[in-house]
Amino acid sequence: MNKAKLLRILPAAIIFVLPFLQVLSENAFPFQTADEYFSHTGRFGGCISGQCHEKFMPGKKTFQHGPAVNGECDTCHTGAYPNPYGLESNQSAACYGCHKKIEKEIQSSQFIHGPIKDGDCSYCHDPHGSDNRFFLRASYNKLCSLCHSLKGLYAGEFIHEPVKDGNCGLCHDPHASNFKSRLTDVGANLCVICHEDMISGMTREYIHAPLIKSGCTDCHDPHSGDSILRLKTSADKICFNCHEEKKNEISQYARKHEPAAKGQCVSCHSPHFSDNKYLLLDKIDTLCFTCHKDSSIWKKRRFQHGPVVQGNCSACHNPHGSDNAFILRMAFPDKFYSAYEKGEYDLCFNCHKEALVTTEKTITITGFRNGETNLHMLHVNQKKGRTCRACHDVHASDQEDHIREEFQFGSARISVEYIKTGTGGRCIPGCHSERGYDRVNMVDNKK
Ligand code: HEC
Ligand code: HEC
Ligand code: HEC
Ligand code: HEC
Ligand code: HEC
Ligand code: HEC
Ligand code: HEC
Ligand code: HEC
Ligand code: HEC
Ligand code: HEC
Ligand code: HEC
Ligand code: HEC
Ligand code: HEC
Repeated sequence: MNKAKLLRILPAAIIFVLPFLQVLSENAFPFQTADEYFSHTGRFGGCISGQCHEKFMPGKKTFQHGPAVNGECDTCHTGAYPNPYGLESNQSAACYGCHKKIEKEIQSSQFIHGPIKDGDCSYCHDPHGSDNRFFLRASYNKLCSLCHSLKGLYAGEFIHEPVKDGNCGLCHDPHASNFKSRLTDVGANLCVICHEDMISGMTREYIHAPLIKSGCTDCHDPHSGDSILRLKTSADKICFNCHEEKKNEISQYARKHEPAAKGQCVSCHSPHFSDNKYLLLDKIDTLCFTCHKDSSIWKKRRFQHGPVVQGNCSACHNPHGSDNAFILRMAFPDKFYSAYEKGEYDLCFNCHKEALVTTEKTITITGFRNGETNLHMLHVNQKKGRTCRACHDVHASDQEDHIREEFQFGSARISVEYIKTGTGGRCIPGCHSERGYDRVNMVDNKK
């Protein structure tokens, strides 16, 4: 830039900058001593003089602070030195002079907000008045960002509604509190104030331990997060943060139950609370039927197996997985024929007597006998043994003794008709001729 050009714009530049210089000089405390200050204010009949400090006259603001309106400027501007505004170094002392309740609240709290520790009430409040409620310097939802970078809190894709709105003060007391991070309440209480539908949940019989111990934030980030519902890890992993043993257990099973293997724990368990043991979302059978819809027909059958009547599917199935076919808790052959081996029917003999298939002659152990010949032993306990499922439907059946109505043989479905008599029964399977048994008068099936 040449000299001539500089000279041409200089006057304009001075005119432009002058008002700023004036403001600067007005804001700099122009007095060397307290006496000078008081002679200044005295000359104008106190600092209320709109003549000098018109812009601090609260009359212009929507919300006006009592002492400023009343011209009691000196309660705060005591002329203390060397504060540029003649304020005491600990400004809050002036405030506490009138606001005793808040002083008590703050002094009796364990966690005090940084600016308040420094006595700087006017960081947030304009002591003269403001267009915001409580004389706040910025609108309620922008106040916190005056000092805090909120970037981190908003970093996640899913932002909590009150955080999005900047309503930090709904959870954090702006002054002080007895709870860490100056929260307005502790644990789950903090959250259920707004999530009212969860209040009644907290009176359920079973409450998940973390809710009692630390509230909601073990799993949900209160501000924002990248997982849906701001879960701290994705929904299919969140449970393993604490239940690592379940993760190991499930990974070791040879047979997986799909929802458990996929980490869809919440398809059966509530993460929060429940009236059912193990935080189950519903009675066990109802739960199973939500996915295994076809199976619900069992509940309509005339004869239901004991544990099915009780709705206790997990008596036989491990809902998390197992090393046995059909995720059964114990061994049970999944075929029609099976060479008998001890241990192979552990599942059934957990509740029934094993003697059922190991006693040749009996008049007590089973009703399935021809005279004294135990037909259970005969069918099951041999090289080409029929497994229980060849004759019984372990869930339910419309025929007595849980005799199944049909069975799968290869690709064919073969029906079975069972006729029970007072002392025995007859069976008409689709694959061979009628056979019968009678406990009193032995039937000769060769005839
Ligand atoms: C409740 C206490 C209180 C009262 C009453 C009060 N002030 Fe203030 N005033 C302060 C505080 C605190 C500051 C420093 C504000 C800051 O840090 O920005 C201040 C700052 C000022 C400043 C300079 C600050 C600036 O922002 O440039 C002036 C001028 C001023 N007050 C004038 C007045 C006048 C005039 C009155 C009476 C009408 C008055 N004050 C009443 C507390 C008060
Ligand atoms: C001389 C007494 C006096 C002093 C000193 C004083 N206040 Fe006040 N303050 C009042 C009165 C009276 C009210 C209620 C009437 C009103 O809203 O102006 C009030 C109201 C308030 C309110 C609004 C409360 C509400 O419920 O709406 C805030 C915020 C506040 N003061 C902050 C401060 C701060 C910050 C200081 C110190 C810088 C301070 N006050 C110093 C007398 C005082
Ligand atoms: C970090 C910002 C911040 C600071 C610093 C701060 N306040 Fe507040 N204050 C607020 C907010 C926000 C509210 C409104 C609270 C609400 O919604 O209940 C408030 C409300 C108030 C109220 C009225 C409501 C009540 O709780 O009685 C008073 C009085 C008050 N503050 C006094 C003070 C005093 C005195 C100081 C200094 C010791 C101070 N404040 C420092 C943010 C602040
Ligand atoms: C829904 C309630 C809620 C809202 C709204 C909220 N927070 Fe929090 N905030 C919390 C909880 C709870 C914690 C404690 C985190 C924890 O225990 O994991 C926390 C922690 C913090 C921390 C960390 C404190 C520390 O000691 O590490 C900061 C900073 C913070 N919040 C600022 C904010 C700001 C700023 C806002 C507004 C944009 C805000 N919060 C809104 C509930 C909330
Ligand atoms: C005037 C500046 C200022 C404003 C405005 C402000 N803060 Fe702070 N805040 C601080 C300072 C200073 C600290 C202390 C820093 C530290 O110790 O890490 C702090 C610390 C915090 C902490 C963590 C420390 C603790 O106590 O556990 C939280 C949470 C927090 N502020 C929330 C808020 C919220 C919410 C708002 C809005 C209502 C707000 N802050 C407004 C200055 C401010
Ligand atoms: C000031 C009120 C308020 C507080 C306090 C609050 N929330 Fe929220 N929360 C909301 C609102 C509003 C929504 C969005 C509307 C909705 O889905 O209910 C929401 C949504 C949620 C959602 C997502 C719900 C959904 O279906 O998308 C979760 C999870 C949540 N909040 C957890 C918490 C936790 C954990 C806390 C305690 C740290 C908490 N909230 C405290 C108001 C609040
Ligand atoms: C052990 C982890 C965990 C804890 C602790 C936890 N949640 Fe959740 N929360 C979840 C999971 C997982 C989901 C998703 C459930 C689903 O998809 O069915 C969820 C869903 C939600 C939802 C949305 C769906 C609904 O059920 O309405 C809200 C709101 C919610 N939680 C609030 C809370 C509140 C409030 C607390 C504290 C009282 C809390 N959570 C404690 C893990 C948790
Ligand atoms: C923050 C840690 C934590 C997280 C995350 C967590 N849990 Fe828990 N959970 C516990 C604690 C602690 C217990 C009680 C101690 C115990 O029985 O292991 C418990 C107990 C349980 C119980 C009851 C066990 C019993 O024997 O009664 C079930 C079921 C359960 N959690 C399921 C879940 C599911 C499903 C998830 C994921 C949505 C989950 N948990 C996430 C900590 C957690
Ligand atoms: C298909 C439904 C279902 C799924 C999916 C499921 N559970 Fe379970 N869970 C149950 C049932 C039913 C019980 C009760 C078992 C019983 O009756 O012995 C249970 C019991 C538990 C228990 C307490 C007893 C034990 O076995 O330790 C924990 C802990 C548990 N589940 C955690 C989980 C976790 C973690 C996941 C996700 C990987 C999960 N569950 C997935 C149905 C399920
Ligand atoms: C969230 C849905 C869901 C729920 C709830 C559920 N299951 Fe399943 N289950 C599946 C899926 C998917 C498969 C694999 C596909 C198939 O065989 O239908 C499966 C397979 C099975 C199998 C066959 C496993 C194999 O290895 O052959 C059994 C047995 C079973 N489930 C029993 C149960 C029982 C008992 C319950 C209740 C405790 C239950 N399921 C609850 C979804 C579910
Ligand atoms: C007494 C043990 C026992 C009980 C109780 C039991 N199951 Fe089974 N379940 C089995 C056996 C054994 C199989 C293997 C197939 C067969 O023999 O019919 C099986 C197979 C299944 C299958 C896969 C094949 C099919 O038939 O669809 C599902 C799904 C199933 N069970 C669900 C359930 C549900 C749901 C309940 C509770 C209402 C339940 N089970 C109760 C023993 C049991
Ligand atoms: C958890 C315990 C339990 C298991 C495991 C169990 N049962 Fe049962 N079973 C019962 C109960 C209780 C009864 C009596 C109520 C009834 O008639 O269903 C019963 C009855 C029966 C009956 C009918 C008895 C009658 O008098 O009509 C047959 C058949 C049967 N079970 C077969 C089996 C087979 C096959 C298995 C192995 C897949 C098995 N059970 C596993 C508890 C069990
Ligand atoms: C060839 C068909 C067949 C096979 C295979 C079979 N059962 Fe039976 N079972 C019956 C008949 C028929 C009855 C009814 C007996 C009566 O009361 O007349 C019966 C009755 C029962 C009863 C009721 C008590 C009793 O003995 O009268 C139980 C328990 C039982 N079976 C369990 C089993 C178990 C466990 C297996 C597999 C180890 C099995 N059954 C295999 C046909 C069979």
